[in-house]
Amino acid sequence: MLLLLPLLPALGLAAPQLGTSPWGPEVAATMLRFGCHQLVIDRIDPLVNPGSLPSPHLHQIVGGNAFDTSMPYNVDISSLANCTTCSYSEDLSNYWTANLYFRARNGSYKRVPQIPNRLPLFGDDITTKTEGGFVVYYVSGGIGDVTAFKPGFRMLVGDAGRRESLGLRNQTCFRCYTGPDFEGDNLAPCYDDAVDTEELPGKMCWGIRSNILFPTCWDGKNLDSPDHKSHVAYPVTGPHTFTALGTGGQCPESHPVRIPQLMLEIIWDTSLFNDPDEWPEDASQPFALSTGDTTGYGQHGDYVFGWKGDSLQRAMDGVCFGAKCHVLHTQSLEEGKRCSVPSRVGEEVDGWRDVLPGNPDVWKKK
Ligand SMILES: *[C@@H]1O[C@H](CO)[C@@H](O)[C@H](O)[C@H]1NC(C)=O
Ligand SMILES: *[C@@H]1O[C@H](CO)[C@@H](O)[C@H](O)[C@H]1NC(C)=O
Ligand SMILES: *[C@@H]1O[C@H](CO)[C@@H](O)[C@H](O)[C@H]1NC(C)=O
Repeated sequence: MLLLLPLLPALGLAAPQLGTSPWGPEVAATMLRFGCHQLVIDRIDPLVNPGSLPSPHLHQIVGGNAFDTSMPYNVDISSLANCTTCSYSEDLSNYWTANLYFRARNGSYKRVPQIPNRLPLFGDDITTKTEGGFVVYYVSGGIGDVTAFKPGFRMLVGDAGRRESLGLRNQTCFRCYTGPDFEGDNLAPCYDDAVDTEELPGKMCWGIRSNILFPTCWDGKNLDSPDHKSHVAYPVTGPHTFTALGTGGQCPESHPVRIPQLMLEIIWDTSLFNDPDEWPEDASQPFALSTGDTTGYGQHGDYVFGWKGDSLQRAMDGVCFGAKCHVLHTQSLEEGKRCSVPSRVGEEVDGWRDVLPGNPDVWKKK
């Protein structure tokens, strides 16, 4: 491949300009990693409960401003949105997950805020300064390794109603940071038996990180499916563990097309709630997802693709790292913060509350 590059100008083709791999020239892969501000916190879900106002539980949403109670699936979302809260201005997609709440001993709830990621990876100073929101990753195993999602594509990971372990720590996991320098952040997510759990940590942490890894194999035909899952699959060797670059593992015959490894990374500032006098006397843990889930097994993530044109494909083949890529535009922190949508439900979600928003059937102990 590289030997052919000098021939391209002679053929009238622009030579692809490759980025620089921090892992050395032999790793010609891409790992986009970029922060996204909060777009809105709202009790709507255009994927699972389209049109419901409100939907059963609260979500935190990042990305483009075409997010709404329902979103047309056969339409290019990038043509509907005008701005994004994410670092890359070409990314008008939407990503959303559950919120986390703390329950004090008197039974009142308070939302746990997120903190931005710690590392200004490869010169990126946006990801470390976002307000709310979370970090998004797209990984390829090399040039030509993955096919970018098509306009209208969407998918879901996890099951908001799950309350027991299905051994799916490789899909959604939690990690307990033990100190204010993000102690424990140095290992690949969802991989390490010592630090990663499928359930909420169950002990006092300085912060809790949640990673959500989407499937990396696609049936090549359907942009969505009734359960928003069956058009995609994990590799036959099981969910990718993110231990190395790439989309890892062989795709099943039914889902032969390798798609980028999409991963969400949320960090909650649980240090604000570490007063032992407010923790349950029975030594159980006091955090619940906005679904009312105190186990964490119901963690889930939703994705509606909305990159402009072929920008995601170019980035996946362009050998890019972090929040700056030579074939994409990185917008300023202020531009990202200016993008928002109003809450459709308009309910109060912060402050001390008697019940979780929507009052989902809650506090079922482990
Ligand atoms: C984007 O801009 C167009 C043209 O100004 C406008 O019609 C449309 O409503 C805007 N979309 C959003 C989501 O704000
Ligand atoms: C419950 O406890 C929290 C934390 O001490 C306190 O801020 C809140 O006001 C209390 N709520 C009620 C209803 O007393
Ligand atoms: C994660 O995936 C690997 C590879 O499939 C598997 O060996 C391991 O058991 C999985 N771990 C969990 C916790 O699911």
